[in-house]
Amino acid sequence: MSTASLPATPDGTSGPTHVAIIMDGNGRWAKARGLPRVAGHRRGADAVRRVVRGAGELGIPVLTLFAFSTENWTRPADEVSDLMGLLRHYLRSELEELRKNGARLRVIGSREGLAADIVRDIADAEKMTAANTRIDVNICINYGSRDEILNAARSLARRVAAGELTADRIDHDSFERELLTAGVPDPDLLIRTSGEQRISNFLLWQCAYAELVFVDTLWPDFGKEHLEQAIAEFRRRERRYGGVGG
Ligand code: IPE
Ligand code: IPE
Ligand code: MG
Repeated sequence: MSTASLPATPDGTSGPTHVAIIMDGNGRWAKARGLPRVAGHRRGADAVRRVVRGAGELGIPVLTLFAFSTENWTRPADEVSDLMGLLRHYLRSELEELRKNGARLRVIGSREGLAADIVRDIADAEKMTAANTRIDVNICINYGSRDEILNAARSLARRVAAGELTADRIDHDSFERELLTAGVPDPDLLIRTSGEQRISNFLLWQCAYAELVFVDTLWPDFGKEHLEQAIAEFRRRERRYGGVGG
């Protein structure tokens, strides 16, 4: 099924153009099976592969996945190290799969604090997928929205101090250009798995008018059918943007 075959939205628009997902519940998935947390993260990486492929098949132009937050560094050192190991593995082993899916990869987040070889792998993976056009896949790693917003404010303040810009000329567009997501359209649909109903410092500016869909499924169990269900829910919503609607 492609998104085209789903019912139109009440406001007559199609979409979603951009689906963002907070991939949560790996630890609980493992715990429920008496396995170490890393087993859940491994199965979570399999779900990433399924969902990237599924999103491509559904014709979703932009998919953004939250993989590691700036706050996730506070986890036990061995879990952080397992997650970094999986990330390394993903960046090296998924290039062919990304190519097959026509996926252009962009890693969103601060490179500071990441191991030098991971920073290199990110640059290589972005370069090697740069010409792919079917789907943009953004993976947020070492990402935190408050830091992103602060850095944007700092950068604009510096430009004002340097006389390149006046404070009054700072508007939505110039602010957005300073964010790590510059050039990425705002998410239309934000999905969070595992039953938690919070944003956890993810795309705070960008999700101002995103439709939020919370699902109980744990991330390692999430697949294309769950994505389709969330899109169907999105299409039942009426987006009003502060207006009175249709
Ligand atoms: C999501 O699963 C993966 C990351 C945040 C890195 P969790 O590891 O948060 O799993 P739970 O929430 O403990 O079940
Ligand atoms: C959010 O999940 C971050 C990612 C999915 C990468 P967390 O599991 O870290 O969020 P909290 O701690 O439950 O808010
Ligand atoms: Mg969690």
